[in-house]
Amino acid sequence: MVMRVLNFALVGCGRIAKRHSELLGLNQIHNARLVAVCDLVINKAEKFAAEFSIPHFADMHEMMRTVNIDVVVVLTESGMHAKHVVALAPYGKHIVVEKPMALTLDDADAMIRACDEAGVKLFIVKQNRFNVPVLKLREALIAGRFGKLVLGTVRVRWCRPQAYYDQDPWRGTWALDGGVLTNQASHHVDLLEWMMGEVNSVYAMATTALANIEAEDTAVVTLRFKNGALGVIEATTAARPKDLEGSLSVLGEGGAVEIGGFAVNQMKVWSFTQPEKDDDKVMSEYSVNPPNVYGFGHQAYYEHVVDSILNNTRHLVGGLEGRKSLELINAIYESVETGREVPLRFKPKYCRLGSRQ
Ligand SMILES: NC(=O)c1ccc[n+]([C@@H]2O[C@H](COP(=O)([O-])OP(=O)(O)OC[C@H]3O[C@@H](n4cnc5c(N)ncnc54)[C@H](O)[C@@H]3O)[C@@H](O)[C@H]2O)c1
Repeated sequence: MVMRVLNFALVGCGRIAKRHSELLGLNQIHNARLVAVCDLVINKAEKFAAEFSIPHFADMHEMMRTVNIDVVVVLTESGMHAKHVVALAPYGKHIVVEKPMALTLDDADAMIRACDEAGVKLFIVKQNRFNVPVLKLREALIAGRFGKLVLGTVRVRWCRPQAYYDQDPWRGTWALDGGVLTNQASHHVDLLEWMMGEVNSVYAMATTALANIEAEDTAVVTLRFKNGALGVIEATTAARPKDLEGSLSVLGEGGAVEIGGFAVNQMKVWSFTQPEKDDDKVMSEYSVNPPNVYGFGHQAYYEHVVDSILNNTRHLVGGLEGRKSLELINAIYESVETGREVPLRFKPKYCRLGSRQ
């Protein structure tokens, strides 16, 4: 059967646009192609347009009106995602938006509502869910191999020197970015909840150790999950002199799995009390460290997006999933601000993330 090819367009031609444009523009995703790009800073858009021989725009509305687009990909500053998604939804095209989907729960709700009303799918970029060792771990969890869950841990020890934060004024601000928890570690927070289940409460501490930014560059969080298991998040961009790891481990009465590497890509431990015949192969087949912290997951992520649109199937990475990890991040900040354990569900009162005062 010949499948329709989906036309993708990018809004925002900054750092992460390189990854998206290469996948979509160099035919690395089946049934997808890049047809247009836009950026407020026109020469940023021009550069991508020249590379892929496609039209470019400074105004996203002009792009949406002029070009035949099936899916628009929002790669703007985190605190602007909601405004852009809400403005784009009425064009009736599916929307992919980078993580974190938004900074406030009200913004996340507005995005979900706008896409529902327009009848379009909303996809949040959570590429680490598609890392092969992560999918293997999820498979073992669903198969019940862990039995009672005991402890889940994520660790992000990355290096972001001051020059990284200084390259754009939005980085590290409460209004548009947040700190390590919202930006770099939001993938890991999402993975922990995806594996361990709903969170009952969190208790957190954070500090701005080395970077000159408003939000935190280092945080530790303890979590209690609804199923009784405990969890730990350790996140920093103040590792020096280079990135050390992005890892996830799950321990249960039936076994333990640890995935490490820079970007949760390398199987480090795969050990069960009831071994199965393919267990020996897992360590060798699922242990490739990627060349950078973005990892390999974007490609599998896009294949999933395209499949979900063309076959109208349910997808793993919708607005409600994005909102869930955002709620957890907001609860963590609430705990940092109040010095108290914060139960979920909750309504933020003191969390500064997304605040423009
Ligand atoms: N999935 C990942 O691993 C990953 C990695 C890096 C960044 N990100 C996310 O991607 C987003 C962008 O990050 P970045 O590092 O590329 O930022 P960036 O500052 O390099 O790029 C953002 C671009 O958006 C443009 N822009 C803003 N408003 C616009 C508008 N109305 N129309 C057109 N263009 C507009 C800006 O001019 C800028 O060029 C952030 O939300 C970030 O958290 C995700």
